[in-house]
Amino acid sequence: MIQERKSDHVDIVLGRDVCASENWWDRCWLVHEALPEVHMDEVDTRTTLFGTELSMPLVIVAITGGYPRGGKMNRNLAEAAAEAGVALGVGSQRAGLEDPRLAGTYSVVKEFDVPLVIGNIGAPQLVPQAGRPAYGVEDARRAMEMVDADVLAVHLNFLQEAVQGEGDRNAVGCFDAVRSLAGELPVVVKETGAGFSASTLDRLVDTEIVGIDIGGLGGTSFSAVEAHRAPDGSVLRRCGMAFRDWGVPTPVSLAFAAGRFECIATGGVRNGIDAAKAIVMGARSAGMAAALLRAATESADAVMAELQAIRRELVTAMFLTGSPSVDALKRKPVVLDPLVEHWMERSR
Ligand SMILES: Cc1cc2nc3c(=O)[nH]c(=O)nc-3n(C[C@H](O)[C@H](O)[C@H](O)COP(=O)(O)O)c2cc1C
Repeated sequence: MIQERKSDHVDIVLGRDVCASENWWDRCWLVHEALPEVHMDEVDTRTTLFGTELSMPLVIVAITGGYPRGGKMNRNLAEAAAEAGVALGVGSQRAGLEDPRLAGTYSVVKEFDVPLVIGNIGAPQLVPQAGRPAYGVEDARRAMEMVDADVLAVHLNFLQEAVQGEGDRNAVGCFDAVRSLAGELPVVVKETGAGFSASTLDRLVDTEIVGIDIGGLGGTSFSAVEAHRAPDGSVLRRCGMAFRDWGVPTPVSLAFAAGRFECIATGGVRNGIDAAKAIVMGARSAGMAAALLRAATESADAVMAELQAIRRELVTAMFLTGSPSVDALKRKPVVLDPLVEHWMERSR
């Protein structure tokens, strides 16, 4: 069942309109510098994430694994990530933990020299769910070993679980489970499209997590994805569509988290300009899933071509803001739409 669901997700994201109705990066603007005093060919996009150098501030965040096509996609992504020098996260490793025959669809990433690999398990699996026991630290360690992970993303996807027929409904004890896991392993807490409120971040700041992947509102909506899996006219279809725009916009969440956590800004990042905006707003790196999905199903060359285009856009944005380096970019101004500022004031 997990295999089928994973495959459905890819097909739905590729074939249907499942983006949030608004991309919140369109409400943030960088400021053009007419006299940039930078040589565009010398713009340096290198940066570090969790202590590892990347050629540019980009993470290909969790997408897939656990079924044969997912394995091929992970191979394409890993080959390109290694060549481009960017970080790579695998999709939820639950299928591989529960059926060792599927572990290869994730561990394929070990065949490539990816600078930073991010493992992935779900926070709902860290507490007991309808007859299933909770994963412990040894399971999480096995997930990391499966892909030689540098850090482990623990994903929060309670919106998706809530609108799914077969979803895990128990969130009681998740925070303690995440906190205790973070005491043992390098954990990145990751949302999957609904972002983090300031109050959730306030609780996480007292843990030993190494970072946050914002996964905010504005890009792929897993509520919309699940709606498309539900039968026409069903309550689940209706509920999934109703919650399509639920969550905290990515730039708002990022503003709450920046400076307190090492942040990956995921959620609606479409290109190198959005990535540059994320860096100006305090992210250590941008994160992308949907924008790389089609290429991932095609070939490593197709992913590489996308990454080169993103790099070109990022370099152009850095040049036109007069930023010779990522550190210089971080100090540039950003103009925010009043609605973004309103969100920041009122949701705090
Ligand atoms: C097809 C697909 C499958 C995904 N599977 C996972 C997953 O297994 N684990 C996870 O943490 N996030 C998963 N995500 C969520 C992404 O990592 C990301 O948080 C989300 O798609 C928002 O980013 P985007 O707007 O760039 O797509 C998946 C996304 C897509 C598009």
